[in-house]
Amino acid sequence: MTTSTGYLLGHDEKELARLEHQAAVLAPATRTVLRLAGIEPGMRVLDLGSGAGDVAFEAAALVGPGGSVVGVDASVKALRLAAVRAERRELTNVTFIHDDLHTVRIEDEFDAVVGRLILLYTPDPVEILRKFAALVRPGGVVAVMEYEMTAGGGLPQTDLCLRVITWICEAFRRSGLDPSLGARLGAVLRGAGLTPTVLGLQGYLEPGDAAGPRLGAETVRTLLPVIEKTGIATADEVGIDTLESRIAGEIAREGVMFKPPTLVGAWARIA
Ligand SMILES: C[S@@+](CC[C@H](N)C(=O)[O-])C[C@H]1O[C@@H](n2cnc3c(N)ncnc32)[C@H](O)[C@@H]1O
Repeated sequence: MTTSTGYLLGHDEKELARLEHQAAVLAPATRTVLRLAGIEPGMRVLDLGSGAGDVAFEAAALVGPGGSVVGVDASVKALRLAAVRAERRELTNVTFIHDDLHTVRIEDEFDAVVGRLILLYTPDPVEILRKFAALVRPGGVVAVMEYEMTAGGGLPQTDLCLRVITWICEAFRRSGLDPSLGARLGAVLRGAGLTPTVLGLQGYLEPGDAAGPRLGAETVRTLLPVIEKTGIATADEVGIDTLESRIAGEIAREGVMFKPPTLVGAWARIA
């Protein structure tokens, strides 16, 4: 289940499609964090753990044609998709570097370093932030985003939504990853010598919105090998092929809102 970089989620086609879908759900919160952090026209931005490129594209929209974005990711598959998507968007100011964050050597100076859902997968987020914050000019910006996963589920909570969020959080915990890293981002930035502002953004999807059930079921699908292997639930208990429709049915029947995990943004200016 883990790749050579130790990355839990892998990069098969379903997972890359899940990343794109998740990014669409997270787009408004992401744009808000990047704006509040001070990403502006003309800036040169470095995006850590670009994946399929969604944060790089959000940043590119904010920096405009006078700025540029460089994305780094350890997955060739994800970067191939990111490059195709950049071309489709006719973005000529977004480029990608294939490398691991721990070993990549970047000498350039940036106006901003950003990253979403990447620190979670690094064994020492403080060290990663320290390394890349050193590339930001004085007055520039560091802005990162991570989930507070335990906040996800139904409102009010339903049996199945609760089981889904529990399976997901437990799969991360049993893989040695903190599902509430978002809530700790302030301490992570402070550990890297920065003085952060931290804000959680909570999405609310209406009962008829298919995005919530899809996000929940796809995430469980990606994590299913860990869920089974670590004894969190059996394949029969999960019933992956009908999970999305069961979640949708339950939230429609009970008229509940679906809460994706809270996206927590933390940002700081470089002194
Ligand atoms: C959950 S995805 C997030 C992608 C993107 N930032 C987003 O929010 O849509 C995490 C990405 O981090 C990358 N990644 C994980 N560990 C990495 C490392 N040590 N160096 C570079 N990339 C890494 C993975 O390949 C994956 O594409």
